[in-house]
Order: sequence, then C-alpha cells, then structure tokens
Amino acid sequence: MPWAKNRLYGRQHGPRLSARQQRLVDELLPRMRLQSVLDDGRDLPLSGLFDGNITRFHLEIGFGGGEHLIWQAIKAPEIGFIGCEPFVNGVAKLLSAIEEFNLKNIRIHDNDARDLLDWLPPGGLEKVYILFPDPWPKKRHHKRRIINQNTLNQLARVMKPGAHLCFASDIPDYVSWTKNHINDNSFFVPLDCEPAERPQTRYEKKAVAAGRTPVYLTFVRTSEDNFKNVKPAQSQKACSFNEDGCISRNQETISNSVR
Ligand SMILES: C[S@@+](CC[C@H](N)C(=O)[O-])C[C@H]1O[C@@H](n2cnc3c(N)ncnc32)[C@H](O)[C@@H]1O
Repeated sequence: MPWAKNRLYGRQHGPRLSARQQRLVDELLPRMRLQSVLDDGRDLPLSGLFDGNITRFHLEIGFGGGEHLIWQAIKAPEIGFIGCEPFVNGVAKLLSAIEEFNLKNIRIHDNDARDLLDWLPPGGLEKVYILFPDPWPKKRHHKRRIINQNTLNQLARVMKPGAHLCFASDIPDYVSWTKNHINDNSFFVPLDCEPAERPQTRYEKKAVAAGRTPVYLTFVRTSEDNFKNVKPAQSQKACSFNEDGCISRNQETISNSVR
C-alpha cells in the first residue's frame, strides 16, 4: 500500500468488532466507500458521490470515533460530509450511527487522507476539519504529522477559495508547529474568530480530563490566487501570525466568500 512506507498513523485495528459492527463493515461500508465511486472516474464532481441534490461538501480527516462528523451530518443534512479514518474500530462506530440515524449525507474513505486528497476534484470543499491529529511528540517523528507543507498544498487544491480549514489540538508544540506551517504556506491565512459550536470528541474529552487545554484554529484558503496557475513562491500572504501567536489582521473579506 502506498502509505505503508511513510505512515502517519498508528494501529488500524483495535479490540475485536462486535457482530453488529462486523456486519456493518462487511455490508454497509462497501456502499459508503468513496473508493468504489472514484474507481469509476477520477474527474467525478463531488455531487456525484452523494444521492440527491447535495452541492456543498465538508471533509473530516481522522474522525476517530466519528462523534464530530455524526453531529455535523445530523445538523446539516444539506451538506455532503466525507469522513476519512483508517482505524477500523472508529469506522465501525461511524457506521453504527449512519445506520441508527439513517444518515444519507456521509461517505467514507477508510484509509490514508493523503490518497484521498490526490483523488478529489479541485476546488470543491467548503470546510475541512482536522481535530486533534496524532501529535507525534518525539522530534524524530514530527515528519509524520499530518500538518506539513505537502498536505497543506494538497488541501489547497481541493478547497474552494475562501474555504475554512478547522484545526484543533491540545498539544502546545503541535499548535505552534501548525501556525508556523501556515505562515510558510502561500495558500492559507489564519482567521481571527471564535471556535464554532461543536461536540467534544473522544480524544478531546480525554485531553480535558488530563488537564490539557484544547486550542482551536481556523485558516482560510486564500482567494487572491488560483492554485492552478500560481506557484506557491509567487503568491502573497494576506496576513501572518505575530510573535505572540496572534494574527496580524482580520480576514473577514476572505471568509465571506464562503456561504
Ligand atoms: C488522536 S486521534 C483523534 C481522533 C478524533 N479526531 C478525536 O478528536 O477524537 C487521530 C486520528 O487520526 C487518524 N489518522 C492519522 N493519520 C491519518 C491519515 N493519514 N489519514 C486519515 N486519518 C488519519 C488516526 O487513525 C486517529 O484516529
């Protein structure tokens, strides 16, 4: 498998699945998988991945047990959600909720997000969530962090100008790492806003119980350049983090381009 050489995540299997979960993985997952649709044509518009008239699309990378994805999908049935998670026990939990709530607006990629980001059509996503990604605390493992210039450039290609990248972490070093990577990337700028209403994820609950403080950051896919024509080195940054970690100017005009 392509990601085996440079994997970004730990185990793919946890405790044995219950009989119901195994049935869902065997029977429901193949119908929810993006892979089967994408195999038919890589240039398929995102609307082709969902039934009905869905025209707006969000992606969650590393949804864990799916708490946030399920909450969003129930709240916004008009939005198509793509969830990406290689950990089969997490996928099984999401499938249970899809069945229980009869959710029609979720599709799943149960593998590495980086493959998915290569497949998705350009400029279609309005929002991408990366919530509490694996922190990889050891310095020699930092290269495994999902936030890096390659992934940011992949994200820039598939996000609409003005789209939001929503990030959360309870690890101060990962927060600084992410701010620095955004500062060094030409396609994203930080947005000065309050964290949106959202449920606590399983990982977040554990972090809070252990006394760590979650930090929420939002970044905007810049609209002043076009990823198809502009090389990263040519584009201008609209603002940046200052030394205190605060952004240097408000990004209202950019964020307004997303509905
Ligand atoms: C620390 S957990 C957080 C899970 C969830 N977001 C939460 O807040 O509870 C990070 C998750 O990211 C997933 N992950 C790691 N690397 C990934 C990748 N390359 N593509 C997709 N998911 C990944 C892991 O399997 C894991 O479930």
